Amino acid sequence: MSTRPFAVDPFDIVVFGGTGDLSRRKLRPSLYYRDRDGQIPAEARIIGTSRSEMGREAYARDIEQAIREYVPAEHLDDTALRRFLARIDQVTLDAKSLTGWKTLSERLAEHPERIRVYYMATAPDLFGPLCAHLAKANLITPVARVVLEKPIGHDLASAKEINDCVGSVFEEEQIFRIDHYLGKEAVQNLMVLRFANLLFEPLWNSGRIDHVQITVAERIGVEGRGGYYDKSGALRDMVQNHMLQLLCLAAMEPPGAFKATAVREEKLKVLRALKPFAPADVDHKTVRGQYRSGAADGEAVPGYLEEIESGASNTETFVALKVEIENWRWAGVPFYLRTGKRLALHASEIVIQFRDVPYSIFNNEAGALAPNRLIVRLQPDEGVKLTLMTKNPAPGGLRVREAPLNLSFADTFKVRFPGAYERLLMDVVRGDATLFMSRNEVEAAWAWIEPIIEAWQAQSEPPKSYSAGSWGPSAAIALIERDGRTWWDDEK
Ligand SMILES: NC(=O)c1ccc[n+]([C@@H]2O[C@H](COP(=O)([O-])OP(=O)(O)OC[C@H]3O[C@@H](n4cnc5c(N)ncnc54)[C@H](OP(=O)(O)O)[C@@H]3O)[C@@H](O)[C@H]2O)c1
Repeated sequence: MSTRPFAVDPFDIVVFGGTGDLSRRKLRPSLYYRDRDGQIPAEARIIGTSRSEMGREAYARDIEQAIREYVPAEHLDDTALRRFLARIDQVTLDAKSLTGWKTLSERLAEHPERIRVYYMATAPDLFGPLCAHLAKANLITPVARVVLEKPIGHDLASAKEINDCVGSVFEEEQIFRIDHYLGKEAVQNLMVLRFANLLFEPLWNSGRIDHVQITVAERIGVEGRGGYYDKSGALRDMVQNHMLQLLCLAAMEPPGAFKATAVREEKLKVLRALKPFAPADVDHKTVRGQYRSGAADGEAVPGYLEEIESGASNTETFVALKVEIENWRWAGVPFYLRTGKRLALHASEIVIQFRDVPYSIFNNEAGALAPNRLIVRLQPDEGVKLTLMTKNPAPGGLRVREAPLNLSFADTFKVRFPGAYERLLMDVVRGDATLFMSRNEVEAAWAWIEPIIEAWQAQSEPPKSYSAGSWGPSAAIALIERDGRTWWDDEK
């Protein structure tokens, strides 16, 4: 089966924040890969902005450097790289002044009919000013799109303000709110698994599923981003967007089609069905933690407070939640979410744990029956695993044993897995918003998260501490064990 991508229509992409970390590590390599694989048409241009007067040559050299750093040698093709660098242009521009807007207008006016992608790889407080300048300079054509990076606000009011600002100059269909988790192969595969196989959907409900776990564990700490992270914390940085999106894909009803409106409507229904946290729930259904010093990969690592400038903070680097969905399909099925920095492993996965068989025909000597689990691994080693009970292959009395059906995408498909941004960038050019968040989704997620933030702020006690390299505070283990369940541990 051919995996050669179809070329998209000619486009100009303007990357505001074209010199930043996101651009260097994600956007530049992603665009290079898409170009190398023949998806970007010859006419397309990539215009990066910076406030300093870099000039085209210096900017292209900076891009080349980033690509050589972040693209493995086996994927570097000098001819493709030269072709890619020839597309690069640079405009010196400031979101907060009139500097550069005339130059940008002149460059874009060379191809007025072309699809324009305005990528906001800047802090969110610049989205409004950038949009206002784009409108004032008459740069928003019917085929223009704008891409907004997370975080879209730090609470419901600020998210609404950003959405209002951007929405005052762009139509909702032109706004692409990116959550790169939705571009991950394994995440899209969750939808294929659910809706392209007959096997799972009849079992996908409270009658057959005991509970769901979603874990996004990072081994790293704040890595020099302490200033940003300390204002955010794990709940805003991970749960409000990535984890709730994963929950939506696991819990949503089958959409009528794999199309933006249908998929986004179903996700929105899930967000609106999330049981709100009352202040009294917060103590026993949420855990917030903060790492202290410990060990990662056998090396001593400092605690969070030693990594941030102020040395004092109540910001959580770990969250665990017990989430309930108030609808017919999921009533009584808890979704346990946990995420944190400096945890024991770098691992993201969704675990669907089915119920026990209603009755065991095997005697006690056969051993205990474990419930089936479907494990969708997002990283590392993307794939799907289904645990099944099997007969232990041995003579003598019949004994049962749990064994996995393991589908590793890397081993099965033997292709390079495109990065999330590659897929999503091309979707923006095509105008396909299926894997992007709607305004309503972002705001519904903030509306649900806010009571947790408020209840935590009202608490006098600090977040519970945990050692770097562990699985978070013991209270997170108690959160699930109180219900007679345990966190899935793939290392077992
Ligand atoms: N880094 C990531 O992996 C990542 C992942 C997800 C989301 N994000 C989000 O993406 C955004 C950018 O992150 P980043 O890590 O790339 O930040 P960064 O490294 O600090 O880069 C910020 C960019 O904004 C530009 N900028 C600053 N002030 C400007 C102004 N007045 N006018 C025009 N441009 C201006 C800077 O360009 P000059 O200084 O050259 O003008 C720079 O290119 C943030 O909101 C971040 O939360 C980042």
